[in-house]
Amino acid sequence: MSLPTPKRTSNLRPLNDRKNVPATGTFICNVDDIDNPGARGFTRGTGAHAFNFFIVRKGDSAFAYVNECPHAFLPLNRITTKFLTLNEEKILCAAHAASFQIEDGLCTGGPCAGKKLLSIPLNNIAGALFIAEN
Ligand code: FES
Repeated sequence: MSLPTPKRTSNLRPLNDRKNVPATGTFICNVDDIDNPGARGFTRGTGAHAFNFFIVRKGDSAFAYVNECPHAFLPLNRITTKFLTLNEEKILCAAHAASFQIEDGLCTGGPCAGKKLLSIPLNNIAGALFIAEN
């Protein structure tokens, strides 16, 4: 008998199928290290298996995502160093102008509407951000 496969909310490869994902409990940065609102990119590892992700800050909250767009699987900041729209209310993939909700990574405009960024669970402990259990 096999267990049911967890429902996937993204067309992107899951975290457990990627290399160099920071382990549960890894400290990433403090919320105050990120502009408000703003975002900051991170890389773990090098070369073809580098793991690229970013954290978006909105007030005292922070949301982490794999830096890979569910449209053409490109880094969201491939063309620009920024991760947010001009009004800083959404995440932007500059490649083909897809926009995503900050809180859940849902694409609400552009070529991958209805698809989601792959989120990375975070623990926010008094403003310090750690990778949480996936
Ligand atoms: S790769 Fe992101 S919108 Fe096309």
